[in-house]
This record gives sequence, structure tokens and C-alpha cells, in this order.
Amino acid sequence: MARREERKLLVGLDVGTSKCAAVVGQITPDGEVEIVGRGEHASRGMNRGDVVNIEQTTQAIKRAVENAEHMANCRAQSVYVGISGTHIRSFNSTGVAPVRAGSVSERDVDSVMDAARAIAIPADQKILHVIPQEFVVDGREGIHDPIGMHGVRLEAKVHIVTGSISAAQNIYKCVESCGLKVDKLILQHLASSYATLLPDERDLGVCMVDIGGGTSDIAVFRGGSIRHTAVLPIAGNQVTNDISVAFRTPAPYAEELKVQYGVALPQFAAGHEEIEVRGVGDQPPRRLSRLTLAEVIKPRYEELFRFVRRELHRSEWYELIGGGVVLTGASAQMPGVVELAEQVFELPVRIGMPHNVAGLKDVTRNPAYATAVGLLLYGRQSRPQVARAANQGFGYWMQRAGEWFKGSF
Ligand SMILES: Nc1ncnc2c1ncn2[C@@H]1O[C@H](COP(=O)(O)OP(=O)(O)OP(=O)(O)O)[C@@H](O)[C@H]1O
Ligand SMILES: [Mg+2]
Repeated sequence: MARREERKLLVGLDVGTSKCAAVVGQITPDGEVEIVGRGEHASRGMNRGDVVNIEQTTQAIKRAVENAEHMANCRAQSVYVGISGTHIRSFNSTGVAPVRAGSVSERDVDSVMDAARAIAIPADQKILHVIPQEFVVDGREGIHDPIGMHGVRLEAKVHIVTGSISAAQNIYKCVESCGLKVDKLILQHLASSYATLLPDERDLGVCMVDIGGGTSDIAVFRGGSIRHTAVLPIAGNQVTNDISVAFRTPAPYAEELKVQYGVALPQFAAGHEEIEVRGVGDQPPRRLSRLTLAEVIKPRYEELFRFVRRELHRSEWYELIGGGVVLTGASAQMPGVVELAEQVFELPVRIGMPHNVAGLKDVTRNPAYATAVGLLLYGRQSRPQVARAANQGFGYWMQRAGEWFKGSF
């Protein structure tokens, strides 16, 4: 088997509530990422983004990675892993430092970033990311790369993401039990947005919502930088549960009904179409119209979008996302979801597929793989050799951001 180093491979591992997905990306000579392997396994040891069963989560990771390795004909040694869950906290902060030698040096940037991250956080939380939004040199705002600029006062505006220490340690434990090293632990919504958002959307203002099984993860960008993140505990599993309760049918069958016949708006279901619904225990199956199924699904998606809209108003970003809303995650595949979201948000909405990668179509055309692909892209961008080659701009600061939070766990 080819060794990972010889082929320049990276592995992204999305440990989700519904599925554990691993993707192997090969870096081509011109620096692009080609997806050459993918593996997936049902995730039973997770609840709303949190590990609740170490053994089951370890097994799911093992299977997913093995399948991806098999397809890519390689052996993975380390992985970029995603983290999310209701324990994630995020906020903006600023730091100030003097410019020591007349023009801004890397040391000055390190000092100002240290100042920005010097904030009190709860004892059970650790900093996951300190992401630079912009720098201000002697009052001049909107600077993305301050190195070499003349001035006496440097200010950094950053977005800080923290997570529960024990939640992160549990992920480390599961991954390391599979004989793998964690390259980096990355916020899942940061990864998904990295895979799905376009540069002009990030500039103009956009809200990405990754609707998974256990959580819906929100990331707001504007001016090219991340401004706000949030995790909502409503997602696809609640929709399945509603179907199960409303039709008195077992959860696995409710899931099948949802994926096969579900629509988010009644007009997407022809009124006369009937489906057979299996009963609980020895109750006989019943026939129901697809329209009735839509009437159960719609309110839950609507509720989710209303929560997202409320979160955007609360954080005062609603008026500033001219680029609209991008929906991703497997639950974004429900027919009619874009139209329903447009009604609630009163903004343009689109589905975010992983972009900027070539290779396996069932990954690159599948919103369920946005996080796993984003982890890979983040990993590639944060590798020193890639970031230094660019030597400035987003890639460079991603790499620096990697160094700033390195060793947090
Ligand atoms: N074709 C489909 N249409 C609608 N929903 C779907 C479809 N396929 C899968 N889902 C739903 O998507 C959800 C899983 O989404 P996803 O795979 O993105 O979650 P995850 O990443 O494992 O979970 P999380 O991000 O919450 O930790 C499940 O609730 C599943 O029912
Ligand atoms: Mg997910």
C-alpha cells in the first residue's frame, strides 16, 4: 500500500450524530484536492454532537476510516476531526499591542493575538479557535494582512470559539483508540462553510446552516471573515421523531418514509399519492397520503428556520447578510426546503454542495459531506508549506490561527 506521505494525502473525519464519515483527499501537484476515498458508518454513540458511548463511536470511526482507506488504497495515520455540539460557545474579542519597530512584524501580530485571546472562560471550557477577523493599524480598519505596515498601535478583532474540555477529550480518545493521531480539532461549521461558501458570499455577508441529524450549526460571514457562530439543538432527527409519533410507526421506518417520500412543502407532493405506513408491534399497516406526511415535516423545518432567523436578529447580523442563506448537511436534501427557507428568511437561499474539490461525485455532489470535505480543505490550507507559499491573505492567517490554538487541548 502506498504510504500517505508519498502521495500527499489528507484525511477529514466528520464524527456526526447520524453518521461517521471519512474522506481521503489527494493533493495534486498544482495544490488542488482530489477526493480519492470515502467511508461512512452509522453513528450510534453520539447525541447532539456529543460522544455518549466511547466504544460505539470508536467502532464507527474505525469502520468509516477503514472503508475510506480501502477505496483510496492507503493507510491513514492522522486525521482532521470536526467538533460541534451544544457545549460550543463563541464570541468576538479584541486585543491591542504596540508596534515595536515602526512597522508591524509577525511578533507584533502574535502579541496582539495573545492579547485578544486573554479572556476569562469557564473552567470546563478551552479555546478551540482564535480566528482573526481584521486588524486595525493606528485606527485604519479592515486590514487583513498587517505585516510591514507602518504605525504605532496594532489592534486585532477576532472570533473566539470554545468547547467543553471533556467533549474534546472524548473525541481524542475515540480517534486515538483507532490508532490515529488527531492533526487538528476543527469546529464543524467552520469546516462546512469552508467547503460550501463562495468568496463573494463571504464578502457580502452570508449565513450558512448545516442541518445534520442532532444539531443545526450556524456560521455567519461578512467582509471575508467569520463573525458569528451558533449551534441549535434542532435538526433531522426531530423530523424523524415527529413522523414516528404522528404516524405511530417505528423510528427506523419513519426515517425511511422521510428520506423516500418526504417533502418540506405540500405543493411538492401530489395530493393523490398514497404511501404504506408500517404499524407498531402487530398493528396492521395503514395507507396515508404523501400530503399528510408533508404536513408533519413542514412545521419542524419551519420552526428550525424561525429559530435561525431569531438567532440572526438576536446577534444583529440579519440585516447584514446580503448574500442570503446557504443550507447544507444531509437534511438540506429534503425537496422544498429551499422554497420554505426563502419564505421564512425573506432572503435568497441555496443548497451548499462541497466545492473546490475534484474526485468522487458521491462526495462532491452531496451536502452530507460538506463537513468532511471542509475538514480536508481546512487541513490543506493550514499546512505551513501551503500557507507560506501564499504568504499572505486568508491561507496565511489560517495557518497562523492554527498555531495560535495549537496545544489548547
Ligand atoms: N435525502 C434526505 N432528505 C432529507 N433528510 C435526509 C436525507 N438523507 C438524510 N437525511 C437526514 O439527515 C440527517 C443526518 O444529517 P447529517 O448526515 O448531515 O448528520 P450528521 O453530520 O451525522 O449529524 P450532526 O451534524 O447533527 O452531528 C438525518 O436526520 C437524516 O434523516
Ligand atoms: Mg454534521
